[in-house]
Amino acid sequence: MDEKLKKVEQILQKYGQEQLLDGYNRLPGEKEKQDFLNSVLTVDFNQIEKLYNSCKEAKDFSKSKIEPIDFVDKSKLSKEQYEKYEKIGLEKIKAGKLAVVTMAGGQGTRLGHTGPKGTYDLGLDTHKSIFEILCDTLKEARDKYKVDIPWYIMTSDENNEETETFFKEHNFFGYPEKCVTFFKQGKLPMLDTNGKIILNEKGQIKEAADGHGGIFQSMLKDGVTFDMKARGIEWAFIGGVDNVLVKMVDPVLIGLAEDKHVLAAGKSIVKAGPKEKVGVFCKKDGKPSVIEYSEISEEMAAETTESGELKFAESHILCNLFNIEAIEKIGKMELPYHVAFKKAKYLNRDGEIVSPTEPNAYKFEAFLFDAFESMDDMAILRVKREDEFAPVKNAEGVDSPETARKLYIDFHSKNK
Ligand code: UD1
Repeated sequence: MDEKLKKVEQILQKYGQEQLLDGYNRLPGEKEKQDFLNSVLTVDFNQIEKLYNSCKEAKDFSKSKIEPIDFVDKSKLSKEQYEKYEKIGLEKIKAGKLAVVTMAGGQGTRLGHTGPKGTYDLGLDTHKSIFEILCDTLKEARDKYKVDIPWYIMTSDENNEETETFFKEHNFFGYPEKCVTFFKQGKLPMLDTNGKIILNEKGQIKEAADGHGGIFQSMLKDGVTFDMKARGIEWAFIGGVDNVLVKMVDPVLIGLAEDKHVLAAGKSIVKAGPKEKVGVFCKKDGKPSVIEYSEISEEMAAETTESGELKFAESHILCNLFNIEAIEKIGKMELPYHVAFKKAKYLNRDGEIVSPTEPNAYKFEAFLFDAFESMDDMAILRVKREDEFAPVKNAEGVDSPETARKLYIDFHSKNK
């Protein structure tokens, strides 16, 4: 018998994943079979076991001391303070020390758009896609500061090709192609409720993007940090793809981080209410942290201060700044995984494709902001919602193209 197959059989038996062999036996050709065996050999089954066991544990913050975090309100800075931070940041930007990273590896399932989220046409008169809207901010910075800021775009296996093609077809939106670099995030197998790895429609292991927390490792592995250092970059702004008011080039944020001598900074906005679907910045056992909206308890989300404001009000909007030194350090660390229960199309043991109407599979994701806990401190800059946060998440209702379009138009007509 083929040595590789024998090895794979042993591994699958050891970890109770023999059901995958049924899938292997059904594959039609030699190439598919080899791909299958190779992908089994790349799976870290000890990690999979650990991840499955973690599904049963609810997040418990009761053992940690959670406190609100200090922040600086951008709109309340004195003229002197503002100019001081701005000057420091501008010097860095003009000297070519800033890079921008856009995390665009997500699937955008909630939006219901079939392509990569960044390719979505926001419905403006110009029919600009989200990627083009983000690129506009870099072109603006180019005109203002006479510098081409390198732009790194994190994609996933699922959307990398389409993303790159989109950029080429749109001539990189008039931004220099040499300043745009794509890199891919990692992925992990999905498990059913019994901890068994499931198969995709092609009969291969069903994998999903492993969350944006893997960005640091991917940046190290794919040579992004190396490239940044070769270009003399010191700071990287890392943001999501789905905020059409994201301010990727902000001298005040860089100036604040430099002035505070911290290796990371994040922007916050005031949380609209206890139920808004945003993570909140806090201090966890004295370290900066974010509690995600899916994991915060109702009580904690609703806690108020004496003056009646939310106690945990600094919403995390995925607008963070990292020093390259921090990225290199975090890239060598293992961040925790969070589990999500999702609807995932799969091939059942009879070889039939099943499209579930209810969640059926676990997906594991590391979150970028878990890296904050590895730092002694970070700077938080509270900004105005109407200036910097117009998310495109859902097809309709809150955080939809309609609400984001309105916020975008209002902002740009005010700031012409
Ligand atoms: C996210 C934040 C939340 C924040 C909110 C603000 C996470 C886990 N939570 O919530 O704290 O308050 O935005 O809008 O991010 N992405 C990848 N790869 C992945 C997963 C996501 O690149 O594997 C990217 C997406 O393309 C997107 C961003 O990360 O740009 C946010 O992802 P999403 O999962 O939609 O997070 P939210 O639930 O909106």
